[in-house]
Amino acid sequence: MSARLQDRTALVTGSTDGIGVAVARALAAEGAHVVVSGRDTGRGEKVVAGIAEWGGRATFVRADLARGATAVRELAEAARTATGATLDILVNNAAMLLTPTPTGEVPEEVIDRALAINVKAAFLLTGLVAPEMAARGSGAIVNIGSISGLAGSAGSALYSTTKAAIHSLTKSWAAEYGPHGVRVNTVAPGPTFTEKVAALEEYLAPMIMRMPSRRASTPDEVAKAVVFLVGDDASNIHGATLSVDGGHSAI
Ligand SMILES: NC(=O)c1ccc[n+]([C@@H]2O[C@H](COP(=O)([O-])OP(=O)(O)OC[C@H]3O[C@@H](n4cnc5c(N)ncnc54)[C@H](OP(=O)(O)O)[C@@H]3O)[C@@H](O)[C@H]2O)c1
Repeated sequence: MSARLQDRTALVTGSTDGIGVAVARALAAEGAHVVVSGRDTGRGEKVVAGIAEWGGRATFVRADLARGATAVRELAEAARTATGATLDILVNNAAMLLTPTPTGEVPEEVIDRALAINVKAAFLLTGLVAPEMAARGSGAIVNIGSISGLAGSAGSALYSTTKAAIHSLTKSWAAEYGPHGVRVNTVAPGPTFTEKVAALEEYLAPMIMRMPSRRASTPDEVAKAVVFLVGDDASNIHGATLSVDGGHSAI
């Protein structure tokens, strides 16, 4: 363990699986007390136990972000109680991934659910956490966007919309909270081989073979970008998008 984030507190939404697990581990490895969150208590407790094994600090708080303002408020309050302090770091990572579907065939309830988890929950949570950070004069927020939020893609209109909204929110929040010492940035992953996404390797192969790196990212590579952006090495970086996409968005 090193100590770039010693004594800081962090909440990572959606850290019971995939990229969020790597982000929680990486923040804890730098000394932060991390609140791990998601709906699945078993997976969440496992992440916390794994961090505790090497002396890191983490606490699991269950939250279903599809449940709106009450669930988000309960999460923010539980995070404060668990860490005993106002959050220093918030990573808006939780999202509903969607399989490509023609626009006219996306059921209304899927549209509502994707917007609720991917956009509304991050909006509400930031609206609770960022003002507390601003009142203290410091804090760092990273929104996890996507290459899907930067360009159009047939069959992915809904997912892309939610990710484009996240990219837009970063810029608005940088303008709103930056003058009060709160830095807000985006990490935009390209294909990242979590267990779930690695299973789609064959489907993703044509896209990956067009990327300069010719390979998908690992969750740890995405997590390292988050650690950089929330740390003091990024002290004057506001409203930026850091792509971790093997060059996908560059060409
Ligand atoms: N993997 C990629 O290739 C890729 C590429 C670009 C961008 N991204 C972005 O990276 C982020 C993480 O993606 P991932 O691939 O790691 O996804 P993932 O493996 O599906 O993990 C999603 C996480 O979000 C949580 N979550 C989902 N619905 C939730 C809800 N209703 N309430 C609370 N938590 C919920 C899940 O926890 P529970 O199941 O415990 O609820 C899980 O911890 C997302 O923002 C995604 O858009 C991923």
